[in-house]
Amino acid sequence: MCNNADPEMMAAAAKANEIAGADILDINMGCPAKKVCNKAAGSALLRDEGLVAAILKAVCAAVTIPVTLKIRLGWSPQEQNAETIAQIAEAAGIQALTVHGRTRACRFQGEVDYAAIARVKAKVSIPVIGNGDITNAQQASSVLQNTGVDAIMLGRAVQGRPWLPADIDRFLTTGLPPVERSFETQCRALARHVRALHHHYGPEQGLRIARKHVGWFLQANTLGSEPFRQAFNLIQCDAQQLVFLDRLWDLDAVGAAA
Ligand SMILES: Cc1cc2nc3c(=O)[nH]c(=O)nc-3n(C[C@H](O)[C@H](O)[C@H](O)COP(=O)(O)O)c2cc1C
Repeated sequence: MCNNADPEMMAAAAKANEIAGADILDINMGCPAKKVCNKAAGSALLRDEGLVAAILKAVCAAVTIPVTLKIRLGWSPQEQNAETIAQIAEAAGIQALTVHGRTRACRFQGEVDYAAIARVKAKVSIPVIGNGDITNAQQASSVLQNTGVDAIMLGRAVQGRPWLPADIDRFLTTGLPPVERSFETQCRALARHVRALHHHYGPEQGLRIARKHVGWFLQANTLGSEPFRQAFNLIQCDAQQLVFLDRLWDLDAVGAAA
């Protein structure tokens, strides 16, 4: 739920989603996009604590399913109020809080402030989830230890590497390093992911979303196969996308396309 400036509208949207079968609602007050913030939504809301309280109370009162919240540290390095927002959220009935350790002004630039995430965690009793720039198991472990957060959220590091959460979970629960995956295993995982996208979103939307994920996969594997990506993006049929992905399993074919 991202376009969120009006408490009544948000409450109505929450109710509609609950009726439609949602198991949980996550309110996004961390989005830095201009088109969102210009409408006093996303992370722009963090500047208006009264409105945040009104929205969160209205939404939590409207539904019986759990409502969670995602925030940044504040609007800018000079206007950081994540600790206050966290307390407002807890009082309103929010059941878990994710904190991206940057401000809106920082967007995705600069270092994540994990100490600030730790300060938010210390202020509330609800579960706090730390987020920002976590790319591997060792880092996940150190963020958990150093901030005291209850969980971590992964973002961009998973793009093109859908097995990363499993690798991190394995390290955190057993101390074992990531499983070695052959290129073919990775390609099979990608094909499974694309098939699931088609199934979940339907052929038209699934086809478009698959282009992003295949692009990220090629980038993450530094295959240097830009012609392959371009050719994949021209495909207009979901079944054809899967046929095309078969070519990836043969490195020679990728080499030829690069
Ligand atoms: C392409 C893209 C789409 C995103 N979409 C959402 C979203 O729909 N809801 C949300 O709460 N955060 C969204 N985020 C933010 C991420 O969840 C995360 O907070 C941010 O990327 C920082 O984490 P990272 O450094 O691990 O990527 C998005 C980020 C990216 C790059």
